[in-house]
Parts: sequence; C-alpha cells; structure tokens
Amino acid sequence: MDRRVLFNLSLPYVARAAGWIFHRKERGGSPSQRRPRRPMSSKPQRATPDATRTSIQDRVNRRIYLSPGVDSYYHDDQLDVAEGAALLKHQPAVAGRRVLDIGVGPGRTTRFLAPLASDYLGIDYSPIMVESFRRSFPAVAVACLDMRDLSSLAADSIDFVLASCNVIDAVSHQDRQQVLGEVRRVMCAGGIFMFSSHNRDFREAFRGPQLRWSRSPCNQALHLLRFIGQQLNHRSTGKLRQVEREYALLDDIGHDFQLLHYYIDCATQIEQLARNGFATLEVYGHCGRVLSGSESDLDSPSLLYVATPAT
Ligand SMILES: C[S@@+](CC[C@H](N)C(=O)[O-])C[C@H]1O[C@@H](n2cnc3c(N)ncnc32)[C@H](O)[C@@H]1O
Repeated sequence: MDRRVLFNLSLPYVARAAGWIFHRKERGGSPSQRRPRRPMSSKPQRATPDATRTSIQDRVNRRIYLSPGVDSYYHDDQLDVAEGAALLKHQPAVAGRRVLDIGVGPGRTTRFLAPLASDYLGIDYSPIMVESFRRSFPAVAVACLDMRDLSSLAADSIDFVLASCNVIDAVSHQDRQQVLGEVRRVMCAGGIFMFSSHNRDFREAFRGPQLRWSRSPCNQALHLLRFIGQQLNHRSTGKLRQVEREYALLDDIGHDFQLLHYYIDCATQIEQLARNGFATLEVYGHCGRVLSGSESDLDSPSLLYVATPAT
C-alpha cells in the first residue's frame, strides 16, 4: 500500500489514542468523563428516561453527521446487492414517477434514481451533505430537511420513497414513528416505500469492537490502531446502549462505534409498519435474497424492506 495512504488512514487513530492518553494524564479521566457539564443556571430537565435518551441519541448522531468532511465517507457510486435486486423489481414504481430520497447524503443513489424519475427530490438534515450533493448534482433538487418533519411536502404527492443505508435508524423510537407517519402522509396510494434498517437478529449485532488479523505487519499495525480507536469510542457511546422489547439502540461498526443506531428484527419491523399504515411487500437480506415471511436472518447486518400504503 502507498505510504501516504497508510499515513492518512492511521493518523486519526493515532491522534485519538494520543489525545485520550494525554487527557488522562492531565485530568485523570477518560473521554467519556469529558462530557460538557450542564450550565449552572439551567433547570433540571423533567424528561422521561426514554425522552432523555432520545435527545442523547440525536446529539450523538448529529455530532457525526454534521461534522466537516463527513460526506467523504459516503462518496460511493454503487448500489449494494439488495438495493440492486429491489430496485430492479420495483423499477416501474420509479420510472416517470415522483421520487423522494430521504437522508440522501452526497447522492450515492441519486445517479440511479434521478434520471428515471419525473421529479426527484433529495433531502438531508446535514448542511455538509447537502452542499456536497449540490457540488455533485447541481441540476438535481435537494433540500436541507429533517425527515421527522416533511410538512413542506403535500399529502399524496410522492410515488416512491427511498431511505437507504439505514437512514431511519439514526433517530429514536418515538421519532421513527413520526418518520413513518410522515412518509405515509406524503405517499400516494399504490406507492412504494423502500428502506433499510439494522437487523437485531444479526449474529454480531451486540458485539463490540473486534481486532482483525493480517499476515502483513503494516496492515496489522493499522488494524490495531483502528481497534484502539474503536475501543475508545465504544467506551463512551456503548454506555448509551438500550435494549427494549421492540428494539435496541446500539453503537456499531458505523463510524467506528461513534453512532447510536436503532436495531429491530424483521417480524417486529413488519408489525411496526402495519401500525403505521403500511403493508410489507418483501424483505431482502444483504445478499439480495427475498426472505420468506418474517424469517429471521442471522447473516444480514441490515435488511431492506419494501412496503406500500395499506388500503
Ligand atoms: C448512512 S448515511 C446514508 C446516505 C445515503 N442515503 C446512502 O445510502 O449513501 C445517513 C444519512 O442520513 C442523514 N440523516 C440522519 N438523520 C437524519 C434526519 N433526521 N433527517 C434527514 N437526514 C438525516 C445523514 O445526514 C446522512 O447523510
């Protein structure tokens, strides 16, 4: 591997590890103890434990998605296998139709959907992502919008809604119901809602960071640095993990254990969709296989759901 690439890859981990060591030396605490204190004047919040968790999850994820340069993680120009299979099957729901791409990031999916659609709108709550999108697709419509509030879009105005790469997992349980309700409201009868979500049944869903092994000393050094960085992140974000009957909030490999994601199993997600006015048409595993019924899939980190407004 080119030395410059090696250097660039390892630098953040060295810096994070070094920062952590120095911080311990100076203040005798770990990064997780470095949380800003509540200003003395602010009143104690009377939020329920879950509502408190809501704002913490939002704060944790916003810190990453609104950070400068975050778009560089998502400059990809390919669909994954499940997306390819599902979009192939539901291409008529996109071609010549009105499409909304939620949490679009820099536009990985735009190059496939926008040329087919009659109208295409990408939305994202991160101004960094929206700017990046505009640079790549200056002629395509994009708006800085939070998926929890689609009030600027009329009811029954969209034929196809995509929320790829587990976008809806970035918000809390209550906010997820709000998102599903908003998507249901803007979708017209017979429309298609395609989204992915982290799979609670995935065999590694609850695992923490794992050290990877390599025969190459250089690669092994990189794996070790990355592992140390992940452990440090997991020490702080992992404390916010929450396990409920319907879902779990977990930090995971995404952004090296710095995000807090919603995990749900297939059968429960189908029930949740039904409660929010959707009928599930298919669920795809990560290899693009359509699961039978509400089959539990231990091998897929996330599942791709295809649903339609229930009649
Ligand atoms: C994992 S990235 C996926 C990007 C893109 N959909 C893809 O498949 O490559 C998640 C995206 O969702 C956006 N996002 C997270 N929470 C959001 C919210 N509440 N409203 C709108 N966008 C949100 C983030 O800014 C980020 O761009």
